[in-house]
Amino acid sequence: MLDTGLAGRTVLVTGSAHGIGAALVRACLAEGAFVAALDIDEAANRALAERADPGGARIRPVRADLSDPAAIAAAHDEVSAWRPVDVLFNNAARPLARSLWEITAEEWDEVFAINLRAVFLLTRAVAAGMRERGFGRIVNMASVAGQTPRPTGAAYGSSKAGLIALTRVFAAELAAYGVTVNAVAPAMTDTPMVRSVGPEALAALTAQVPMGRIATPEEVVRVALFLASAESFVTGATYDVNGGALMR
Ligand SMILES: NC(=O)c1ccc[n+]([C@@H]2O[C@H](COP(=O)([O-])OP(=O)(O)OC[C@H]3O[C@@H](n4cnc5c(N)ncnc54)[C@H](O)[C@@H]3O)[C@@H](O)[C@H]2O)c1
Repeated sequence: MLDTGLAGRTVLVTGSAHGIGAALVRACLAEGAFVAALDIDEAANRALAERADPGGARIRPVRADLSDPAAIAAAHDEVSAWRPVDVLFNNAARPLARSLWEITAEEWDEVFAINLRAVFLLTRAVAAGMRERGFGRIVNMASVAGQTPRPTGAAYGSSKAGLIALTRVFAAELAAYGVTVNAVAPAMTDTPMVRSVGPEALAALTAQVPMGRIATPEEVVRVALFLASAESFVTGATYDVNGGALMR
């Protein structure tokens, strides 16, 4: 068993209310961490918090819209007043599967605001404290869509490619301060985001995966927890969790 070293540490998970984020919250609580769970969907986030930690002693649900820089700053203030953050999972994202001929400028900006600008702003805010304390683990949820082209992935895929680049910049900047920064690049994973494409598109996409199925959120979380573990010499890396869909 991997000793994550997360017991007693404070973890911030964005996009915590559903899918991979909710699985991350449950896993971090099981490891003994304190968890700040940030999501725009307040009702679902509160419900998740009540289910995952019924007494509420180790979880703090935070409502924020990551497309708004002021909301990011306020959420960071709220979380760090509760407990200083040791581990940050930048997991929230806005999916967009749309032909590059049809994407509007507003959609492009919204995807980039959530998938890339928010990660930049929140990571910079959180990393300042990590650098001072000499310890931090940051894990960004990228995507295979940022590594190989999809006809409908102009905005989403470009934002995820940017996230992989940003991961490396933060990793280089923070390496000397005990702070590691890495990315996970899943392919299709069984979450509400993927189910929203419909059964036919899902079957067609699954057929392209050499392992013949899509990932479970827990399989993605396992790799994210490895990258967040206290004893680690891994930084600036992107770990693929894709069933062989892209081998590089
Ligand atoms: N599911 C997949 O197949 C898959 C594949 C590759 C990468 N990913 C990545 O994994 C991460 C999690 O994906 P998922 O499938 O669990 O997604 P999901 O849609 O199930 O969950 C995303 C969460 O982010 C929250 N969120 C969205 N916009 C927000 C905003 N503006 N402010 C705050 N919270 C916001 C949503 O409310 C939701 O709880 C994402 O970064 C996604 O791009 C997912």
